[in-house]
Amino acid sequence: MNTRIALSTLMLALLASPAHATSIYGGQARAAAVCSHCHGINTPSADAPFPPLAGRDAAYLQLALKQYRDKTRQSDIMNAIAGSLTDQDIANVAAYYAKLKP
Ligand code: HEC
Repeated sequence: MNTRIALSTLMLALLASPAHATSIYGGQARAAAVCSHCHGINTPSADAPFPPLAGRDAAYLQLALKQYRDKTRQSDIMNAIAGSLTDQDIANVAAYYAKLKP
């Protein structure tokens, strides 16, 4: 195989595999379907103890969600919700909320 073909094959493989890339759109869909019921999108529902997530640091949000998932951070509600999230879901939803204006 000459170098040019090898290189273009590599490029194609890279372009064709976005499956593990963080997806803001995936995060947006999940936030709208699940998280927004309590946290809202920009503003949490009024008279409730739900911390706002918009514009927060993505690394912080990911850490918090992983801690809820492995129950090193306790919250009946969030332990239940984070329990079903994959690393990919967590990355997506954290990236989405972090990009929003608070
Ligand atoms: C049924 C209501 C409810 C839903 C739905 C919900 N949360 Fe929460 N969330 C809470 C509550 C209550 C807390 C505060 C828990 C605590 O005291 O640690 C919280 C806390 C958090 C925190 C920690 C914030 C901080 O300031 O440390 C993050 C991050 C979070 N939620 C993300 C999410 C994401 C992402 C989703 C959607 C996948 C979601 N939550 C869905 C109720 C909810």
